[in-house]
Amino acid sequence: MDLDERTLSSVAAYDEHAREYQEALRLKRPQADVRRFAAFAKRHDLVLDVGCGPASDLRLLRDVGLHPVGVDLSMGVLREARMLLPRHPLVQAPLHRLPFRSHAFNGLWCSGSFTHLPRDQWRRTFVGLLDLLESGPVYFSCLRATADLEPYDDPVLGRVHVSGAAEQEVEALLASHGLQDLTVEVRPDPLLDRRRPWVVALGRFER
Ligand SMILES: C[S@@+](CC[C@H](N)C(=O)[O-])C[C@H]1O[C@@H](n2cnc3c(N)ncnc32)[C@H](O)[C@@H]1O
Repeated sequence: MDLDERTLSSVAAYDEHAREYQEALRLKRPQADVRRFAAFAKRHDLVLDVGCGPASDLRLLRDVGLHPVGVDLSMGVLREARMLLPRHPLVQAPLHRLPFRSHAFNGLWCSGSFTHLPRDQWRRTFVGLLDLLESGPVYFSCLRATADLEPYDDPVLGRVHVSGAAEQEVEALLASHGLQDLTVEVRPDPLLDRRRPWVVALGRFER
């Protein structure tokens, strides 16, 4: 699977605006979701935060007793993450080709990570990520939209390309891969409120 040019140019926008992105969102994190996620896991479980950004949620996941590994393609956001978490495991890699063995993790945190992938790569990418899980909670959030890598002028990042899905599509994606106790909700965007709704899903994966 090749990375689309629009995915790469969006990742470059995170490189360029990593500090502003971190500052804009640092006080607007989904704390209640992190606690619900942790309730499906065991203390000290190794969990994967894919598209972790500038450590947006790594600290929260650590503070509820989990061991999160952060992955992102943008070196700019990983540098910000490194400043906040000097000794934390952080890996630069694309979501569809992660350097981990199958079944290595017990939780998957996927907050906005598919935003810059073309929609026809979502299912394959998700299946690849599930292969890294032995069991545990899966958190998935995305823009609630029909866009398929459409240009979008983000107030923090500038011009990026974004994809989204409806709540029914997210539910179908997660349920068709066996997730249990699934909840799917529509939420306002932390910065732009109802002008840009998100779909937020949480479930539990078991082999
Ligand atoms: C919408 S941000 C979400 C960041 C963070 N999870 C949060 O909730 O604030 C998307 C993140 O995914 C990363 N990303 C986008 N496409 C990627 C890919 N193909 N492989 C790895 N990371 C990717 C971007 O660099 C960015 O940090």
